[in-house]
Amino acid sequence: MTNPGKFITFEGGEGVGKSTQVNIIVKKLTDLGIDVVQTREPGGAPGAEEIRALLVTGGTDKWQPMTEALLHNAARAEHLDVTVKPALAAGKWVISDRYTDSTIAYQGYGQGISTETLLDLHRLSTGDFWPELTIILDGHELHRAKSREIENASNEDRYERMGEDFHQKLRQSFRDIAKKNEKRCVLVSADGTIDDVAERVWKIIEDRCL
Ligand code: TMP
Repeated sequence: MTNPGKFITFEGGEGVGKSTQVNIIVKKLTDLGIDVVQTREPGGAPGAEEIRALLVTGGTDKWQPMTEALLHNAARAEHLDVTVKPALAAGKWVISDRYTDSTIAYQGYGQGISTETLLDLHRLSTGDFWPELTIILDGHELHRAKSREIENASNEDRYERMGEDFHQKLRQSFRDIAKKNEKRCVLVSADGTIDDVAERVWKIIEDRCL
């Protein structure tokens, strides 16, 4: 049997530079000759990208919180079976921009569903499948409209329009998640230049995965 690959996820609030760091790490790993699949949630497979469009565009109150949690889990089930698991089975590394910790933060701490319920949904949707390493970027959010302009010039701004209260909860919720999952998660300061942050992230990947 081929060696299974490595599944690493990146998490954090809006505009902490997560996608930039994912791009840098994927390039570094690729330069080392590692076969890397770069992916994201919601999305990362054709059907999951269709579900993504339902979630990231339109009115902020268009879904009930449970509907939203189920849609994220449906997208995740599709993403895992179509993209992540086949890549891991082929010995590739999979780097995903977001995974279940985002559901716990956004639909849980942000939209009021209990962590316990969300972990039940995770078990049902994924068979309790977790990455071996999760990097949680912790820093001040850029102004969200600005960050979206930089990271993605599209209309995918439904979560960004959810209001200050919602977004203020996110940073603390990701910190709590890191604390509760110390073995899997590493909280990384997003302060400093892009290169400073990339160096911190790289050191963790070297220590834990290479
Ligand atoms: P992105 O902007 O990082 O691509 O993610 C799209 C949005 O989806 C982002 O605002 C966070 C949100 N989200 C959730 O609310 N729950 C989830 O489970 C995931 C994966 C993302």
